[in-house]
Amino acid sequence: MKKPSQIAIDGPAASGKTTVGKLLADRLGFLFFDTGVMYRLATLHALKKLGQVDDEAAVTALTREMDISLRTNEQTGETEALLFGQLVNGQLHSPEVDKQVSVVAAYSGVRAALTEQQRRIGLLGDVVMVGRDIGTVVMPDAALKFFLLASPEERARRRSQENQAKGIDSDYVEILRDILRRDELDSTRTIAPLRPAEDAILIDTDQKAPEAVVAEMFSHITQALTA
Ligand code: DC
Repeated sequence: MKKPSQIAIDGPAASGKTTVGKLLADRLGFLFFDTGVMYRLATLHALKKLGQVDDEAAVTALTREMDISLRTNEQTGETEALLFGQLVNGQLHSPEVDKQVSVVAAYSGVRAALTEQQRRIGLLGDVVMVGRDIGTVVMPDAALKFFLLASPEERARRRSQENQAKGIDSDYVEILRDILRRDELDSTRTIAPLRPAEDAILIDTDQKAPEAVVAEMFSHITQALTA
């Protein structure tokens, strides 16, 4: 009986991948790895150095040389991201990074550099990895692949609630517009576009609490274990 040691979760912006992925990883005692953080770090680094992200060759070179590390804060359980040793979590969801990250994520050299690092982490096993191309490109042999779906309105509602809880000013219409824009960019790019792998299990998360989604995932994990 094979233990599903690599679990891929993909889906569009704000579809609940992080919340659900963290819960699932906690229950399984697996590492939770959010690959979106890496694309956000590459974007932040480029913005700091260049003030823009339009120069593909320069952004790619900066991504290759950037020194990043991710660690779990033992007290809060949060993933902490360090760029050249500096904690930058607070800057990863700034409006500027939100606006530019899909542009950076479409650069082939950026994807090649980050995908290689993600694959290495995936090979260690016992990992729940979340992103856009985990089931299709990063871990195509993952034992289980989930693809989360939710309507754009539901996703915008969740994101504005999250922002409010964090005390961040947020405008529902603006968030909805940004989500639709990012979905379009992420799913129409040529390299590793956002799409479910052929063997992915689609889960519609509209009207479902994160625990209910995790329960649904668990029933698939149990089936995989007993198959
Ligand atoms: O999940 P997120 O919103 O933090 O992701 C930020 C951006 O990074 C998103 O616009 C798409 C991109 N991304 C990607 O292209 N591939 C991944 N595996 C993860 C994220």
